Amino acid sequence: MCGIVGYTGRKQAAPILLEGLTKLEYRGYDSAGVAVSDVLGKIVIAKAQGKLEVLKEKIDGGKAIQGKCGIGHTRWATHGVPNETNAHPHCNDDSTIVAVHNGIIENYAELKAKLQRRGYQFYSETDTEVATKLVDYYYKKYGEPLKAISEFALRVRGSYALAVMFSDYKGEIFAIRKDSPMVIGTSGGDCFLASDVPALLKYTKHVYYIENLQIAHLFDGQAQFFNLDREPVGVPLTEVTWDAEAAEKDGYEHYMLKEIHEQPRVVRDTVGYLLHDGNIDFSELMLTDEALAGFKSIVVVGCGSAYHAGVVMQYVIEDLARIPVRVELASEFRYRTLNLRGDELVIAISQSGETADTIAALREAKAQGLKTLAVVNVVGSTIAREADYVFYTKAGPEISVATTKAYSAQLIAGYLIAIKLAEVRGAVSSEYAKALKAELLLLPEKIESILAEQASVQQFAFHTMDKKDAFFIGRGIDYAVSMEGSLKLKEISYIHSEAYAAGELKHGAISLVENGTLVFGVLTQEGLIAKTVSNLLETKSRNARLAVVAFEDIELPQVCEKVFSVPRTDSHFAASLSVIPLQLYSYYLSVSKGNNVDKPRNLAKSVTVE
Ligand code: AGP
Repeated sequence: MCGIVGYTGRKQAAPILLEGLTKLEYRGYDSAGVAVSDVLGKIVIAKAQGKLEVLKEKIDGGKAIQGKCGIGHTRWATHGVPNETNAHPHCNDDSTIVAVHNGIIENYAELKAKLQRRGYQFYSETDTEVATKLVDYYYKKYGEPLKAISEFALRVRGSYALAVMFSDYKGEIFAIRKDSPMVIGTSGGDCFLASDVPALLKYTKHVYYIENLQIAHLFDGQAQFFNLDREPVGVPLTEVTWDAEAAEKDGYEHYMLKEIHEQPRVVRDTVGYLLHDGNIDFSELMLTDEALAGFKSIVVVGCGSAYHAGVVMQYVIEDLARIPVRVELASEFRYRTLNLRGDELVIAISQSGETADTIAALREAKAQGLKTLAVVNVVGSTIAREADYVFYTKAGPEISVATTKAYSAQLIAGYLIAIKLAEVRGAVSSEYAKALKAELLLLPEKIESILAEQASVQQFAFHTMDKKDAFFIGRGIDYAVSMEGSLKLKEISYIHSEAYAAGELKHGAISLVENGTLVFGVLTQEGLIAKTVSNLLETKSRNARLAVVAFEDIELPQVCEKVFSVPRTDSHFAASLSVIPLQLYSYYLSVSKGNNVDKPRNLAKSVTVE
């Protein structure tokens, strides 16, 4: 999503604009630019493709452009390729009117043709240049900014947060929004404008949440607001009363994106919690090697994503430690006739440690005399207090309802438990155990490299936001990751989706695949990839749209519309990488749909009821 900023006041504008844009980087972008009005009212524009650093270098951190009034933009390409020409700000022919825009002008082609008939020429592929020249057209016709902007608004269909500077109005910024976010702040003779509060929170906690189709006029440290009839309207000044945690979004628009980006640190910390100098030390859990070796099988219980982490844990422990593992939905486990022998270890996975069904499953296991190990994130939670042993995941507070970093930490817990069990049972060679531990240490930077490609995921989400159904398929651990990818999509984008064992699809559900159905394939498990590819092609032959998540060196059929490549890792750990694009995809799709990403409808962060 694009980000816009604006500043006018007593300080040099360019450095403030650049800093504000930095706070909006999380929105995803591929180019950036600023425009500053100098003391004579001349507007200087600087743009650059790529990350903000390129622009900062180009204008020497802002020092190269003098002036105390300016606007800035980070562009996430919708119309026109990401390049300097298409980057914002855009301007009229003599740069006397300059604008930045977040949103989509749906009828830009029609408006562009009309302007061309009136002699306008265009240098870019963007809808924003059309918007800017439409304002120019009406400014030339009526000679007044508010009138020009209101006429613009009456003719444009689509969404916009538009900030405009007119060289005839030195030191002033005009803005209007419809369906794209914009917030305005004032503080001690300075005025600020941004797509989101974090970009101006450093300067003020007092903001105006401008309404749709209201025009803002920022000048001399004040903000005035008007309706489309140019009548003054009152906009309440709101104090940003976010609690400390909320302010800790560190400039991310949503907790979920922040927490997705925390995963490299969380993985590093959770690995480092027990892996020291090549040894996995369970003394912190009070779980001795002898006790571990005494368990003849494992039962994993959890709900939702915790359950999905348990499914990964099942595959990894079974393969490395050669011990039977069953994984159960906690809400089912508690009502089953369990027929347990008594030498099982029951592992209860829970981020919150307060999930009612998981607590009940844990208590049922204890009632049957079984030893219990909690894998929990919240210190001192009920499950942590009631289990015999506790493995604390090091995810830190997870605020977004849709779990990401805690799920990743749960995966790490599963790997460490699996390797430890394999070692005490002599099920793996010391060389392989050493190689596995070394690979765990590389996961954080591999996750970083996937996160660096988030714009590509965002683009695909944008182009598939109209989807009503999706399938996620895979085999083995890839199937387990499909479950998590499907849940993420459902819970925050409200799109119906199903995870299927790839080999199972043709036993009924493939009847649901029709023209345009979105099918994600997860392809990381050696020896299973070709079979899953065959299943994907079966859906393709029914005109499904294919997207795959695969190790970067895997040969794929050309029919995949989108390939999310992840670095290769040991196949036991693949879930930690293949889940990342699926998390990002669901996040960006939810944002594209305007959903409340961090607080999806009907959901709670901890399900403390049955
Ligand atoms: C996952 O994004 C959901 N928030 C939900 O499925 C969650 O994993 C489940 O409710 C279990 O919660 P817990 O990990 O706190 O026990």
